Amino acid sequence: MRLFVDTADLEEITKAVGWGVISGVTTNPTLIARAGQDHETQVKRICELVGDVSAETVTEKRDDLVVEGRRLASWHKNVIVKVTSTPEGIAAAKVLAGEGIRINVTLCFTVNQALLAAAVGAYFISPFVGRLDDIGEDGIAVVRGIVDAYRQQNIKTKVLSASLRHPMHVTQSALAGADIATMPFKVLEQMYKHPLTDQGIERFMADYRRTQEPQALKR
Ligand code: G3P
Repeated sequence: MRLFVDTADLEEITKAVGWGVISGVTTNPTLIARAGQDHETQVKRICELVGDVSAETVTEKRDDLVVEGRRLASWHKNVIVKVTSTPEGIAAAKVLAGEGIRINVTLCFTVNQALLAAAVGAYFISPFVGRLDDIGEDGIAVVRGIVDAYRQQNIKTKVLSASLRHPMHVTQSALAGADIATMPFKVLEQMYKHPLTDQGIERFMADYRRTQEPQALKR
């Protein structure tokens, strides 16, 4: 499973890319607003740091979405255009995908929405796990359902597990068979952590210092 960060913060992206585990970034209008920068400038900067950068459309009608999607895609070869799971969004996705533009269908909450995205050749489908959990549904079950349906139907659209709120969501996405998990930077940091790792390092270092360093001093 590939790992993406879900942020438009350049500092976080630079750090995550430096750790060597991240191969893409997802953004949305909320994350761009949080970064406090112009959309185009920020997406172009992110594209210079990493491949596969999802940038979201903000118009609603098919024809407007097509024009906007072409404009986003023209910013950089790494841009993947996000459209929402609506009749207009999916119709625009069909036109854009037909032109070779990679599409991420976002705000997906059901297997049926994922089937609609696949029917028009979407590159990614983004089920929102945390937002389903928030309303008492089972977000990971939807990811699993999409993975199963795509396998049975031999669909090539990649499942990008999104709206992940904690490290267990990442583990569960992998077990459900997601192709990609996108997560806030904080969750990526949490993935590295375990108290026994910290304790183990402390003990190894202490034992090394206690037994090896005095001898090194004698040499
Ligand atoms: O990738 C989708 C993500 O940006 C939404 O996350 O936490 O706002 O539901 P959240």
